[in-house]
Amino acid sequence: MAKKNTIRVFEGFAGYGGASFGLKKANIPHKVIGYSDIEQEAIELYEYNFPNIRNYGDITQIDEKKLPDFDLFTGGFPCQPFSTVGKMLGELDTRGTLFNDIIRICAYKQPRFILLENVKGLLGKKHRPTLDKIISELNRIGYKNVQYAVLNSKNYGVPQNRERLWIFGQLGGLPDGFVLEPPHIELKCRIKDFLDKNPDEGLYRTQAQIDRIHEIRNAPVFDVDEPLCYDYYNRKIRTDGICMTVTPPEHNIMRIVEPMVNGKERLRKLSIDEHFRLMGFILDDKTREIKFPPTLNYTKLGRRAGNGWDVNLVSVLFKHIFSQL
Ligand SMILES: C[S@@+](CC[C@H](N)C(=O)[O-])C[C@H]1O[C@@H](n2cnc3c(N)ncnc32)[C@H](O)[C@@H]1O
Repeated sequence: MAKKNTIRVFEGFAGYGGASFGLKKANIPHKVIGYSDIEQEAIELYEYNFPNIRNYGDITQIDEKKLPDFDLFTGGFPCQPFSTVGKMLGELDTRGTLFNDIIRICAYKQPRFILLENVKGLLGKKHRPTLDKIISELNRIGYKNVQYAVLNSKNYGVPQNRERLWIFGQLGGLPDGFVLEPPHIELKCRIKDFLDKNPDEGLYRTQAQIDRIHEIRNAPVFDVDEPLCYDYYNRKIRTDGICMTVTPPEHNIMRIVEPMVNGKERLRKLSIDEHFRLMGFILDDKTREIKFPPTLNYTKLGRRAGNGWDVNLVSVLFKHIFSQL
C-alpha cells in the first residue's frame, strides 16, 4: 500500500526507467504502479532493476479505463512518428501518434502531474507547430500554463553536452512564480573523472584502425595530456573536458583519446559503465546504481544509454519541481 505522500507513477516509454531512477536518486517517496515499453532490451533492463512492476506494453493498446490511479505520468515519447496529416492547414495533426495516447490516457486518468521529454528540435521553426499542438492539447485536458525548458546535462553536474526539451504540467495549472528550469550547478568535473580506472583492452582501436582514421578522416594527432573526447564527425578533440551527446553506439560519434603510451596514440570506445556514468549513474567499487542483465550485450546496453534520460538531471529536476509545489 502506498503511503499518503507517496507519489504514484505511471512510467510511459520507460526505457531503462529514467523517471524511476531519478525519483529514487532524489529520495522522493514514490511507487511506480506500472510502466509501458515495447522493446525487449528495454524491458529486460527495466525489469532487472525494478522487478514486479507491470508492463502495460504498447501504449496505443492500453485501455485507460483499466489502469490503476496514478499521480504522475512520465514519458520521453519517441518523436519520429508525428504525422503530417492536415498539412494543408499548416498544422501538424497528432491524431494517431504516440503523443495522442498520452493525451487519451491522461484525459481519462487526470494525474496531478505530467512530465514529458523530447528533442530540442521541437523548438525549431519546422517542428514548432508540433510543440504548440502538444501544449494546446495538454491545456485542453486540464493542464493550464504548462511550462517547458531546454535543459543541458553539463549544467547539472555531468560533463555531457546533452540538450533535451522538458515539458511539465499540473492539473489546474502551475502556481505563480513556478519555474521549471532548475538553477545551474557549476561543473567541477571533466570527462576523465567519469572513465574506468582500467579500461578493457578490447575497447582500444588498433594501430591500423587509428591509421585509417587519420587517412580517411584527416584526424588530428591524438596527443593529449589528459583523457578527452574525440568528436568523430567534426574531427576535433574537445579540450573543454566535456563530451558530446551520448548516442546509441551505431551512431559512432565519440571516442576517448588518452595520453600516448611509448609514443603511440591511444583511442578507444566508451565502456558500458562509462556510457551509464555519463547518463548520471554512480558506478564505482562501492555503488552500482544500475545493474546490467547478462543477456544484454554492448550494443544493446549502449543503445539504451543513448536513448535514456540523464538520471542525475532528472533527480535535480524532480527535487526542484516538488520543492515548488
Ligand atoms: C526515448 S526512449 C525513452 C527513454 C526513457 N525515458 C529512459 O530513461 O530510458 C523511448 C522509448 O519508447 C518506447 N516505445 C516506442 N514505442 C512505444 C509504444 N508504442 N508503446 C510503449 N513504448 C514505446 C521505446 O521502446 C523506447 O524505449
